[in-house]
Amino acid sequence: MCGIVAYIGKRECAPILIEGLKRLEYRGYDSAGIAAIDGGLKRVRCVGRVAALEQKIEGMGGCAGTLGIAHTRWATHGTVTDNNAHPHRDDEALGHGITIVHNGIIENYSSLRTWLAGHGHTFTTETDTEVLAHLIGRLYKGDLMAAVQGALKQVTGAYAIAVICEKEKDTLVVARKGSPLIVGVGDDEYVVASDGSAIVAHTKQAFTLADGCVAKLTRNAFKTATLDDTPWTPEIRELDIDLAQIELGGFDYYMAKEIHEQPASLRTTLRGRVDLASGDIVLGGLTGFERELNRARRVIVMGQGTALHAGMVARFMLEDLAKIHAEHDFASEFRYRNPIVDEGTIAIFISQSGETADSLAALHEAKRRGATTLGIVNVVGSTIARETDAGVYLRVGPEIGVASTKAFTGQVMVAAMVALWMGRRRFLSQEVVKTYLEAMHAIPAAIEHTLLASDQVKAIAGRYVDRENWLFLGRGVNYPVALEGALKLKEISYIHAEGMPAAEMKHGPIALIDEGMPVVFIATKNSQYEKVLSNIQEVRSRGGHVIAVATEGDDHVAGVAQETIFVPDVPEALQPLVTVVPLQLLAYHAAVLRGKDVDKPRNLAKSVTVE
Ligand code: M6R
Repeated sequence: MCGIVAYIGKRECAPILIEGLKRLEYRGYDSAGIAAIDGGLKRVRCVGRVAALEQKIEGMGGCAGTLGIAHTRWATHGTVTDNNAHPHRDDEALGHGITIVHNGIIENYSSLRTWLAGHGHTFTTETDTEVLAHLIGRLYKGDLMAAVQGALKQVTGAYAIAVICEKEKDTLVVARKGSPLIVGVGDDEYVVASDGSAIVAHTKQAFTLADGCVAKLTRNAFKTATLDDTPWTPEIRELDIDLAQIELGGFDYYMAKEIHEQPASLRTTLRGRVDLASGDIVLGGLTGFERELNRARRVIVMGQGTALHAGMVARFMLEDLAKIHAEHDFASEFRYRNPIVDEGTIAIFISQSGETADSLAALHEAKRRGATTLGIVNVVGSTIARETDAGVYLRVGPEIGVASTKAFTGQVMVAAMVALWMGRRRFLSQEVVKTYLEAMHAIPAAIEHTLLASDQVKAIAGRYVDRENWLFLGRGVNYPVALEGALKLKEISYIHAEGMPAAEMKHGPIALIDEGMPVVFIATKNSQYEKVLSNIQEVRSRGGHVIAVATEGDDHVAGVAQETIFVPDVPEALQPLVTVVPLQLLAYHAAVLRGKDVDKPRNLAKSVTVE
């Protein structure tokens, strides 16, 4: 995915665009660019971070103008070069100085490119976006909005775009389909961006452009319509973001901030939804779908990466608490199989961003096959949130670090609420539900307590940070936590790590274990405890170094492991909410000690909007 910012108004646009790009940099950070119209069009692009772009602009004597567009890129079509960086423009010889930034993928760009080349167009980049710029240029007859509408009618794929034209110095045209775009409405100015974090410093009034719609923004008015020019009236709302939520607030990295925010974010997830006295769970987003959920015979939980790990925990909870047949699947795999879905199937999609292309494609497939769909999503109004039949928001606030942390615990907490909500309508007594709700209520304090181990975890990370191969092992509900611990470590520190069920180790991976190899065990007190202890012995006897996450007061584990990080005792089904925290800290400290850019790991972007 990429980040887009655009501005039209009375102020100099460059500082607003650069500040916005910095806020959106988590969306992609391999190159960046800006274009502004003053007397004429000026375009500056470069490989690297926004800071590099800022320097280049300075070196080129600034980028003046009160109308401009900017972009931070995560490459899909075309290598990472200055030339492939956005903004892109229409044909130098045939065109009109039409310049565009784009997030998404133009799927039929190849045939369009061939057609345009046959009509004399010369392309200077390898990108799909340049093809769209040329197409708009070809259709331009003095009305930028009409040209954009015409071009988008010929395009298949996903896009959020912002377009300017040297010949229309008072017009900014934006459009979207399948990629997010928000229009901030200020006093005689508009700030458009891929998400509200780039807008909120300027105005809180905003609207989300509807899928398949185009907006023409002049300095003090706007017009919105579909591609066929049918008027569409947006609903202007207050952005639900505070600047404090998107600032570092004294932490060195967003990941550290987000790890430490978990007690507070989970309190918000629970607030107003659970009644400890009555044992009631109120999930407004499920209203209207009680019948389908009560009659469900089977649940498939889907997502990718961390969200799928949360989905695996959800599957455990649905079986254990709601006593319903549950499975999990990679959204990317489900979509390309011939999955069995019937009317009694509930498909749950877990996603922080709500924009992950694989998850979205699987959602479409599940709907096509007749499943009732449910979203467990963080970003309000995101595509998955809008397209699922019902859903429950995480409410954990913006997650900016590429490594997902507070979204994972939010997803698991919501999954617990959904499982109990369904269980209460099936087999669970009010008393059992109340016991769980009390335990869930105590989780934020348990995480606060676990976070106190941060320095201890840092010291452990320091002792093993030079080892290039790690194993993460867990059983039952903690098996997904092992996967998550391994993902966190490899994602931000580039250490090779594998997570697996502890029992699987002896079926092959045990061959990897040699003297001093770090093996992280989730060895908390639960139904699998004894079995995990045996697995620990198997590692020890082959020279592996055991780093154990254990239940407070468990001297036995502390006696056999080289390193033990204690977590408070919580019911088995809820253990991932606390056992994941030391693993998040371990990955974080290891990445910092290795000098990595924790919040922007190489080759990654916060949400993956390509399949
Ligand atoms: O936005 P989503 O939750 O749908 O994203 C899914 C994965 O791409 C995401 O969880 C990814 O694995 C994280 N970067 C891991 O930290």
